[in-house]
Amino acid sequence: MASTGRLVVALTGASGAIYGLRFLNQAARHFQQIYLAVSDQAMQVISTEMDIAVNPRNLSVERLLGRPCDNITLLDRKNYFSPPASGSFRHDGMVIVPCSMGTAARIAGGISDDLVTRAADVCLKERRRLILVVRETPWNLIHLRNMTQLAEAGATILPAAPGFYYRPKTIEELADTIVARILQQLDIEHKVVPQWQFTEKE
Ligand SMILES: Cc1cc2nc3c(=O)[nH]c(=O)nc-3n(C[C@H](O)[C@H](O)[C@H](O)COP(=O)(O)O)c2cc1C
Repeated sequence: MASTGRLVVALTGASGAIYGLRFLNQAARHFQQIYLAVSDQAMQVISTEMDIAVNPRNLSVERLLGRPCDNITLLDRKNYFSPPASGSFRHDGMVIVPCSMGTAARIAGGISDDLVTRAADVCLKERRRLILVVRETPWNLIHLRNMTQLAEAGATILPAAPGFYYRPKTIEELADTIVARILQQLDIEHKVVPQWQFTEKE
């Protein structure tokens, strides 16, 4: 399928706001237009984990990224007239990063009760890429069953399980091991982390 240059991104209330924000920064360099939805609970987690005080009244792309970004459109997550709520709106896929178990459960159950879950539901029905960067530990049987259900329906389950073999020196570098995997799933060439080269130990 030809690329549309459009991507849908959602931030939800799992731990790992850093993944979402660093991914957004990268994605904005590669996609012409990004449609962004942020759950209320994501704002609480962002405020807890990052040096960003964000709430439904002051939410903006500039506040989230620390700079204006013309090609990211912030969506009202209760507005089902929004483009990603309709299957007729073509895009290259959707990334939910981080993805809470609550959001994963609602998508697995077909409960489209906000724009995040509706847009994800549309991705599955239209056979578009849906990448869920899930985070919880440990996983209970309900989490595991929901993720199996989602994988069977066509979603990619990309756990926020960073790789240490790159020897990351900062939290940002560690987070970027996940950002790189998301970009790879979207067929984006990047230099976020070096491609792994096999070297034999002496
Ligand atoms: C600081 C903080 C961290 C959280 N971390 C997680 C997590 O890692 N995974 C998860 O599934 N829920 C986590 N939660 C709980 C979710 O935020 C909660 O289930 C919420 O209803 C998710 O809503 P949303 O999916 O609409 O964003 C966390 C909550 C807080 C306050």
